[in-house]
Formats: sequence, structure tokens, C-alpha cells
Amino acid sequence: MDILQAMQARHSVRKYTAQKIEPEKVQALQEEIAACNQEADLRIQLFTEAPEAFGSLLAHYGLFHGVQNYIALVGKESASLEEKVGYYGERLVLKAQMLGLNTCWVAASFSRRKCKAEIAADEKLVCVIALGYGTNQGRPHRNKPLESLCRYEGEIPTWFLRGMEAAMLAPTAINQQKFRFHLHGDQVRAEATGGPYSLVDLGIVRYHFELGAGQENFSWENPLLRRHKQ
Ligand SMILES: Cc1cc2nc3c(=O)[nH]c(=O)nc-3n(C[C@H](O)[C@H](O)[C@H](O)COP(=O)(O)O)c2cc1C
Repeated sequence: MDILQAMQARHSVRKYTAQKIEPEKVQALQEEIAACNQEADLRIQLFTEAPEAFGSLLAHYGLFHGVQNYIALVGKESASLEEKVGYYGERLVLKAQMLGLNTCWVAASFSRRKCKAEIAADEKLVCVIALGYGTNQGRPHRNKPLESLCRYEGEIPTWFLRGMEAAMLAPTAINQQKFRFHLHGDQVRAEATGGPYSLVDLGIVRYHFELGAGQENFSWENPLLRRHKQ
């Protein structure tokens, strides 16, 4: 499965079997996490066979069952932390999908107190990604009309359309899809239009858009990493 197929196949999965993640897959995930942490100066941490954070009523209320593994998305507090976490977290989600695993982004339905992540005083746990072998593969989410999620003049370039289609496959908190992509020549600006965790969503949809559109076809008017270095 390549990464575009992974985007198509991925849906949120909230019920997991007891099957453990094989050591070689854990290793592959750890390597991807290390790469993300280095590239973006984050402290993303993987926990396997650690059911505590999803053992509470809160998790069951959120319809989670059998979650034994999760990725904690931690980084230094900054204006761009949430967007960065979205971007790199989704890279890990698609990596997991390619390894044959299922996932679900989780901001609310888990116990922050029982989460095992190390979080320094200047750091924040933004959210987690539940991970493992699902009892099902989930199902496609509803979409807003493409026209409401982007702005362009004249004819829509094929690469921009492909980017939009990829962005529309992305997970967003409560499936809110509160994002908009603006096209100006070969420049694209991505914006969050409000709502809970919409900056995390923005990072996620940015990652999908790049994969769908092809990075060689455009440049960001508001790039993600440059802003972090300011
Ligand atoms: C930032 C973020 C936070 C989320 N938090 C939760 C959560 O707390 N509980 C939950 O059940 N689903 C949560 N989700 C999953 C979304 O509900 C799901 O991604 C959305 O409905 C779209 O469905 P899909 O992922 O199957 O495409 C979250 C998703 C994102 C992106």
C-alpha cells in the first residue's frame, strides 16, 4: 500500500482486538517518530501494551474499546505547536496505515492523567493517536462540498483539485472540516476557519494536500516550518 492508497483506506477506528503490534512494526513506528521529532523539534512518544489511558469511562463514552497502544503528541508550547502536531501526527497515522494498523486521533475521549507521556513544564500534550488492529476498518466520513472548502479564480488546476480531494479524506475533529485552501497562481494559503482543535486539523489537511497536489506543483504562501523558526 502506498501513501495515497493509505489516505483512501484510512478511517477512524475506535474498537481494537487484543492482537499485539509486532516488534518490527513497533520499530518502524519508532523510527518514523524519531524522524518527526528531529525534523520538527517535537517529543512524540509511543506507548504499547498500555491500556490505562483508555480504561476510563470517558473513553468508553467516546466509544473506544480495547485500546492498548497510543502515540502521545507532545511538544514545546508555541503558537504553532498544534498545527505542527497535526502535520507530523498525520504522517504517523498514514505510516501506521501502511503497516496494516488502524488509528484514531483522540483529543477528548482519553484520560490525560493516566497517559504515560513525559511532559516537561514548558511542554504540552496536545492529543493522542489510538493505534492497533481494529475489529473493523471504519467507514468514509461525510464531506462538505469541495466549493465551500477552497477559493480560486478561473479554472481549477488538476493538481489543486487532487490536493483538495486528498484534504477532504483527512480526519478532522468531530469531522468539522473547518479549513479553507486559497489558490493564487501557484501559491496556496491554508487557513483554519475556527472550531475546537481546528489548528491541529489544519496541520493534518496540509499534509494530505501536499501528498495529493504534489509538492513540486506549488508553494505555500504560509509555510508550516518557516513560521516555527521565527
Ligand atoms: C484533532 C482531532 C481530535 C479528535 N478527537 C476525537 C475524540 O476525542 N474522540 C473521538 O471519538 N474521535 C475523535 N476524533 C476523530 C474524528 O471524529 C474523526 O476523524 C472524524 O469524524 C472523521 O472521520 P474519519 O477519521 O473516519 O475520516 C478526532 C479527530 C481529530 C483530527
